[in-house]
Amino acid sequence: MSDPRIIVALDYSDAQPALELVARLEPALCRLKVGIELFTAARSRLIEQIMQRGFEIFLDLKFHDIPNTTAQACKVAAELGVWMVNVHALGGRKMMEAAREAMSLYAQSPKLIAVTLLTSMAQEDLADLGIAAAPADMVLRLARLARDSGLDGVVCSAWEAALLRQHCGSEFCLVTPGIRPADAVADDQSRIMTPCAALDQGADYLVIGRPITRAADPLQALQDIVKQIKFESKYP
Ligand code: C5P
Repeated sequence: MSDPRIIVALDYSDAQPALELVARLEPALCRLKVGIELFTAARSRLIEQIMQRGFEIFLDLKFHDIPNTTAQACKVAAELGVWMVNVHALGGRKMMEAAREAMSLYAQSPKLIAVTLLTSMAQEDLADLGIAAAPADMVLRLARLARDSGLDGVVCSAWEAALLRQHCGSEFCLVTPGIRPADAVADDQSRIMTPCAALDQGADYLVIGRPITRAADPLQALQDIVKQIKFESKYP
């Protein structure tokens, strides 16, 4: 089976526009990310509808609770049959280990990854929490903790990918948002990188939203990015 590198972010507050977009895309070219906004609006029925169309889902709900509750939520995600699910690394080792253990019961267990620090967190936000470390040091620390807790990878900025690849090993899965084709507008993203550059830095999967979802022809925009990636023969 193909392993598309692109995960299209379905950032909608309603099922209908999400399903309209999905109808215009192809599962051979991308996976789809459903986050808290769309999931809160449309719930698991939408996940099933999207999966019926042949797409694999990254359920981006960033679980963060006591170990038992997080593990139970991960089980529900596994039973839904999603491809990837995530938790906050700040939930700690015991929480991540419980999530890992719960997922290991499933023959086809989803990839389990962690959010390290939210990229919206600057030094002063960490200071507010009583954390003296610099954001970059916290990201590395939390990525290592996720790896040591048995998780499959982390969400990170493409600008952190090379460092995390170096410290967390070649098997650790790096999922990077903030991706923009060379000719695309940045929107509200500040530390952007092109798809090929992000893969060069060691990213495994690229989360891309508006450059595809707001394009006049979303499938064409997706195909253009896939073509660009294939052009770099390192990325079949
Ligand atoms: O439209 P755009 O490509 O900016 O969408 C990026 C997606 O990745 C959004 O769903 C956003 O919430 C998510 N994301 C991000 N930056 C992070 C983590 C997640 O942009 N650090």
